[in-house]
Amino acid sequence: MNFRLLNNLKHMGMNMNKNNNYIKRLIFSFLAVALIVVPGTALAQQAPDAIKKDLLEKGKKVYFKRCVWCHGVEGGGDGPSADRLFTRPRNFIQGTFKIRTTDSGELPLEADLIKTVKNGLPGSAMPAWGEFLGQDEIVAVVNFVKTLIQDRDFNDTEDEEVNIMDFGTNPWGTKGPYHLGIPQADVDAGKEIFIKNKCFECHGGEGRGDGNPTMKDDWGFPIVAADWTQCWNFRGSRRDAFNPFNVVRTISTGLNGTPMPNFREQITVEDRWKIAAFVNSLCPRKNIDPLTNKPIPDFLIQSVYTEGPVSPKIDDPSWQSPDTDSRIVAPPEEIAENPKRHYIAMAGQITRGKRNFDPKTDDLWVTSRWSAEENAVYYLVEYHLRFMTDDPEYPDAVAIQWPAKLQDLFGAEKPYFIMGDSKKPVDIWKASFTPKDYSATAAPNEKGYQLDVSVEETVGFGFDALQAKESEAKVQVVDSIYHQGRVKIMFKRDLATEGEFDVQIPTEQFIPVAFMQWSGRDKEKDEHNAISTWYYTILKPALPASLYYMPPIIAAIFVVFQGWLVWMTKRTRKMYDEGKVKRDELPK
Ligand code: HEC
Ligand code: HEC
Repeated sequence: MNFRLLNNLKHMGMNMNKNNNYIKRLIFSFLAVALIVVPGTALAQQAPDAIKKDLLEKGKKVYFKRCVWCHGVEGGGDGPSADRLFTRPRNFIQGTFKIRTTDSGELPLEADLIKTVKNGLPGSAMPAWGEFLGQDEIVAVVNFVKTLIQDRDFNDTEDEEVNIMDFGTNPWGTKGPYHLGIPQADVDAGKEIFIKNKCFECHGGEGRGDGNPTMKDDWGFPIVAADWTQCWNFRGSRRDAFNPFNVVRTISTGLNGTPMPNFREQITVEDRWKIAAFVNSLCPRKNIDPLTNKPIPDFLIQSVYTEGPVSPKIDDPSWQSPDTDSRIVAPPEEIAENPKRHYIAMAGQITRGKRNFDPKTDDLWVTSRWSAEENAVYYLVEYHLRFMTDDPEYPDAVAIQWPAKLQDLFGAEKPYFIMGDSKKPVDIWKASFTPKDYSATAAPNEKGYQLDVSVEETVGFGFDALQAKESEAKVQVVDSIYHQGRVKIMFKRDLATEGEFDVQIPTEQFIPVAFMQWSGRDKEKDEHNAISTWYYTILKPALPASLYYMPPIIAAIFVVFQGWLVWMTKRTRKMYDEGKVKRDELPK
């Protein structure tokens, strides 16, 4: 109690005009002023319990070192980084928490908060603190966060009563990391329950979160429904993205502060597991990187050799990805040999212009084929986009970036990854598009929306040195579609062209390639966009050759590298635990 008073006193100046809880604060502040005239010893005697005081003292230290930047000095969700984040950091004052095991509207258990702080809230900026803090520090900071809550009683002895929900038990006994082996019949039954309960009104017909563009959270900020095909971005995924329990918990408890309701009346516990099976069946089983909590990117994009010409139609079966990553069902034989979709991680471009920390599109999927007969290569780029824009000022756009002078690069040399540099220019193929007949409410459209596409070819010598190519356009977008929250754009270009700054594309060689994406609805334009780092692409030969060994080797090297990173992190933490290094020396 004392702690809270002192804390209030400390920040009183800022307290006054910010909150609805004015009267309560006024009383607190008054009491606090009264306390200050009491000698310090009296204060100490009042401490309910020295151990608890130590805990809060420790928690406060952690909070002011780690959490204040986002959550603010009083926990108002208004730290210095708050304005740049979507979703915004939580305002703790009302005591509203999303991820709980308790009923809708209720406070969480302390154990729920400890799990949240440890595992983070994926899909938002809230980090997984288990990577940086010891369990004791996490418990301490959670207890401190509880003291910041003012509108409810949530401090040890007189907590409000809560009801822990009944979640049943996993009927299939599936195991992580992939939770496979759920009978198709249960997945199908889950789909029926999904339709009956109209989850699609918010989550979209195929679960990409594209159902409703106008939702707000309890704090009045825009909010979108979760994309079920990216379950690693579920706030409550708890670093166990494919576990159907996460979905059962969400529909049993709802997410306080958001439009996501609970369904404990409408859906029986048994049926909640079935709908969870359906929801999770939509999420491809990629290997998850333990550090980022997102799929490990496919750093090598393999372009598959195609006999004769390549089909320029997105819905042609030859473009259907076998999606062996999904691991849920084996792909049909006809498409088993098709090129796979490669996962490309995107991040907000933050070095220039208006900063954009977390773009709403955080990945692209790329599939490629090439044809010797046509002497051309095709890249199908797809990504999830809940809502498009029809504002021609800010069209949606996606680009592929290449070294313009590939043949001049030495070894692993690459141009600067954001729009090149003066010595090593880049060749950028950019497709900008707006949907035809798109309604502002993004009404689902069975057939999808046709796009008006324009292609630009640019040479980049750096940010301020972008030049439209003078030579004739050679890149084409041969097909495109926007359907159920997903954009697909198919690029085509000849391998060899005339222009001075056109990348000349060799076969059987690793070629650096990078991607950019602009979201029109978020008013992204020019250097305000999402970017990837350099990936590699290779046009695979017709017949098996020694190069076929390379992709597995590269993959192996990458896995070892990841392992090394994890090992280093663990070792550093161990050194800390053994007192060999100080906390300040840990990686931030
Ligand atoms: C980089 C910014 C950032 C930092 C630093 C940060 N958080 Fe958060 N935190 C967020 C965001 C953003 C949310 C809201 C996410 C959402 O609502 O989906 C959040 C939400 C939370 C929640 C609400 C959980 C729930 O179930 O609703 C808790 C608790 C929390 N943070 C605790 C902490 C603690 C403790 C620390 C310091 C150890 C911390 N945060 C540091 C960004 C941050
Ligand atoms: C009224 C709109 C609405 C309806 C109806 C709705 N949801 Fe949601 N749902 C949301 C919103 C909004 C979020 C995202 C909340 C956030 O980002 O914090 C969400 C998030 C989720 C999540 C992710 C939870 C997490 O850990 O982040 C799951 C899973 C989910 N919903 C499942 C369902 C299922 C299953 C149904 C139908 C039985 C359903 N939803 C119906 C609005 C809705």
